[in-house]
Amino acid sequence: MTDPRALRNAFGVLPTGVAVVSLFDEAGKPTGVTVGSFASLSLDPALCLFSLGKAQASARLFTVGVPFVVNVLPHELSDVAWQFAKPLEDKCEGVALSDTVVDAPRLRDGIAHFACHGHAIHDGGDHIIVVGQIEDFDHRDGEALVFYRGGMHRPAPL
Ligand SMILES: Cc1cc2nc3c(=O)[nH]c(=O)nc-3n(C[C@H](O)[C@H](O)[C@H](O)COP(=O)(O)O)c2cc1C
Repeated sequence: MTDPRALRNAFGVLPTGVAVVSLFDEAGKPTGVTVGSFASLSLDPALCLFSLGKAQASARLFTVGVPFVVNVLPHELSDVAWQFAKPLEDKCEGVALSDTVVDAPRLRDGIAHFACHGHAIHDGGDHIIVVGQIEDFDHRDGEALVFYRGGMHRPAPL
């Protein structure tokens, strides 16, 4: 039997970027979830993916066809990353939102945005693997936020 906490610590040795996946809930209220599992998947067709724990409250929202935005965070927004990692009533409080081509809220201050429709939902053990069809994307200058060994960092050149 694997010790999940030990496995999590071992996974945490690999630095990841940090993204907030934002969308509207069933009531039409903007919400989102912080993920470190965002990854590029395919260029043609344009696909990306992330994994979400089945026990996460937001997991129910991710279905084939659902519109959502993956917002890659700059290092200045570590507080926003923690905010979307808590079970808050209003996850978007104080966060600047804007519109995009899909019917989902976009975090204005993201360093890159991928506006998606749910392309496929795969089983991944105690997680689901959400594959997004990228409908539009943008990026800007700035330094990404990095999650490493349980803490937030900024990238440093060698
Ligand atoms: C840096 C960071 C990365 C995270 N990555 C993931 C992830 O990839 N998948 C996941 O299910 N939860 C991840 N989490 C935890 C969720 O953000 C957290 O459990 C959140 O409360 C889930 O939102 P929900 O309860 O609205 O579904 C991460 C948290 C942090 C701080």
